[in-house]
Amino acid sequence: MNKDLNKLNSHNSDEISSIGNDSLGDTDKGPKNSEYEDASVRVTPWDVEGQIDYDRLIKEFGTQSIDSDILEQFKKITGEVHPLLKLHYFFSHRDLDFILHKVEGGEKIYLYTGRGPSGMVHMGHLMPWMFTKYLQDKFGSKLLFQLTDDEKFLYSQDRTREEIKRFTYENILDIISIGFDPSNTKIIVDTVHIKHLYPIALEIAKRITFSTSKAVFGFSGSTNIGMIGFPPIQAAPCFLPSIIEGRPTPVLIPAAIDQDPYWRITRDVAEKMGFYKPAQIHSKFLPSLNATGGKMSSSKPETAVFTTDEPEVIEKKVCSAYTGGQATVALQRLYGGNALGCPVFWYLRYFFDDQKESDERFVKCISGNLLCGECKSDLARESKSFIAALKMRREKAKDRIQKYMYENEPFEF
Ligand code: TRP
Repeated sequence: MNKDLNKLNSHNSDEISSIGNDSLGDTDKGPKNSEYEDASVRVTPWDVEGQIDYDRLIKEFGTQSIDSDILEQFKKITGEVHPLLKLHYFFSHRDLDFILHKVEGGEKIYLYTGRGPSGMVHMGHLMPWMFTKYLQDKFGSKLLFQLTDDEKFLYSQDRTREEIKRFTYENILDIISIGFDPSNTKIIVDTVHIKHLYPIALEIAKRITFSTSKAVFGFSGSTNIGMIGFPPIQAAPCFLPSIIEGRPTPVLIPAAIDQDPYWRITRDVAEKMGFYKPAQIHSKFLPSLNATGGKMSSSKPETAVFTTDEPEVIEKKVCSAYTGGQATVALQRLYGGNALGCPVFWYLRYFFDDQKESDERFVKCISGNLLCGECKSDLARESKSFIAALKMRREKAKDRIQKYMYENEPFEF
């Protein structure tokens, strides 16, 4: 039993079936990323599919794993280790040690994260944002939050500008509901704030060849030229803080690992442009609720709990969720369940259980002393109350959008 618990709490344990945190490209396959792709696994900024081996991703992407030294550094600054770090939900980084060093020395750093508004927001999207708010509170950092409405319009041939605009508005409500400090947080909507990004994007674009971008993003002859020109726009907020502050300013990007290609090209040009390389802290993905290996997607609403779901809908989604359970109660009692392959277990572990409760749940499950109905009922109850509280904050956010807009430039909907 102990061995199993060690496995659960070790870095390489999560035999989690993937789910993208990104829903764009519901219809298109999108470019291929030559760096991490085989027949069944895809991790690109536009597509995440298959059984992900996170250790392999660290090797293929050339990132660092979050080790005990990093956790110690965090502890020195914040006096604690956040559960999402302890649970290895954030599992990989680039230059996080450099950032923590700067924070420790009292230097101001910026946080930068974002969202591609290709659909409504589900719980998987919220976790990196909640962690970003935690960092903002602990470090007192300014945050830039980019909405890439241009990217999401360009990526899917089916999407209209009006649809993307509606999702942008709805997603902004979710972002504000996370509780970011309005005096330290600025939302950038690409089509609204492009004039602040464009001069930086030009400098970046001029330093990246088509060969590099083909290799990093997998662009091909059939990729539309808007997509090919887009990456410098997502790179630009990495350098915007240095321009705002008038001196090189360290930036940390909390984001799911699928965004890493953007940061690779940005890091390549940073020093040549007189900036620090942007640092990253990478998260895993939350698994799809309805099947192993399935993809969490805004176009397949049954795969996730959305922030606008009604309680009955949440109840139904959770009750019909895929689990790691056996086919019958008798078999479950005899063989135990497969907690590591169970999305209900992971939702509870990352969102609602504390580590002790979750470890106990794990042991009870795999030893046949817990039935799936009990976990589902815990998850349904917790998710309903979590979403109900979020919905109230979403309502209040409607009057607060303007406060968060970069340079107070209005986002009109
Ligand atoms: N491309 C991201 C997406 O599709 C959106 C994004 C823009 C982003 N800037 C970011 C995500 C910075 C994380 C960090 O969701």
